[in-house]
Amino acid sequence: MNQDDRGLATRLLHGRGANPLGAVAAPIFDTASFAMADMAAHKRTVEDPSVHDYYSRVRNPTVAALESTLASIESAPRALAFASGMAAITTALLALGRRGGHFIASDQLFVNSREWLAHDLPDFGCEVTFVDLTDPTALEAAFRPTTRAVFFEEFTNPLLDVLDIEAIVAITHDHDALAVVDNTFATPVLIRPLELGADIVIHSATKYLAGHGRVLAGALAGSGPAMDAIAVMRRRLGTIITPHNAAAVMEGMSTLELRVDRASATALRLAELADAHDATSTVNYPGLPSAPAHELARRLTGGHRFGGMLSFALLRPERKAAVYDAFTRFIRATSLGDVVSLVDSVDDPNVLRLSVGIESADDLLVDLEKALDAAL
Ligand SMILES: Cc1ncc(COP(=O)(O)O)c(C=O)c1O
Repeated sequence: MNQDDRGLATRLLHGRGANPLGAVAAPIFDTASFAMADMAAHKRTVEDPSVHDYYSRVRNPTVAALESTLASIESAPRALAFASGMAAITTALLALGRRGGHFIASDQLFVNSREWLAHDLPDFGCEVTFVDLTDPTALEAAFRPTTRAVFFEEFTNPLLDVLDIEAIVAITHDHDALAVVDNTFATPVLIRPLELGADIVIHSATKYLAGHGRVLAGALAGSGPAMDAIAVMRRRLGTIITPHNAAAVMEGMSTLELRVDRASATALRLAELADAHDATSTVNYPGLPSAPAHELARRLTGGHRFGGMLSFALLRPERKAAVYDAFTRFIRATSLGDVVSLVDSVDDPNVLRLSVGIESADDLLVDLEKALDAAL
């Protein structure tokens, strides 16, 4: 863990460090390659490609500025930025799983992560066991001598279950494996998994970190030989982020804490409204005192904000389309973590998921009430 004791908002704004030219906004180094000073510099680069900026598939100063900010906010010695969240996940698991590795994965994962683990990784010679990570006995029983890592989202997508990072990390480390956490939903504002003992934290930076729905981006932070292996795999696969998108993510991150604060406050009010409405059978929001994972969420987050993601099940699944169609301020779209509010129809036949943006809360409350009325 790094020793940066500045507040999160300061790290979000100044984590990239000083710019040698004094540029206040991060300059975009929009170039594929960089000139070599002489043959000696060329030789040094061939020996160790990580020492110089020489080719933007390997290193780039704009990407490095983003990575330094990411490392700072996730309390990590090192971070790597990727072309998308899936680029981060696939590159990391390929690097960790090489030569017949076994993974334990949460049985509640974002659909593409689950499909990659279930269908693609086995084709690359890896084995995967899906486990209900709320059950420590099931986790214990799943380890093998070849287990490399346990992969999970601590706020799950789309049901907003909360997993106990510290308990999972303790069992994982007993078996000499790595705990790899997808922190996309919670963001470093709510939870910083590395401070709770996890080894690697991953983000779809497309979501809250970038925050404006404009770019695809991924991020990963951690320490040790695993990060070296992932950096080499990223270089070979070419899954690094572009300099332009790196600058867009940095710009988004500068307001991350403000946006998550605002979205959390509105999401709690929306969850209370949905909970009290006759159309819903269940409301999944860890900030509701009645939520099964509320106490755990309080412990992990510090207890005063619970994020902008919520989902709910309808009593009458046959009215799901009518509710979805009735929203006028929530935009019907996939993705999440944007400044605008989004409603998404997830796999489950009676569940809708909301990503709460930063619009005026009263407008969103009116919109949700009207949409739920369409289910009655
Ligand atoms: C929890 C989670 N992880 C990873 C991803 C993948 O990110 P991306 O779409 O940036 O590849 C998503 C996308 O929705 C997600 O919700």
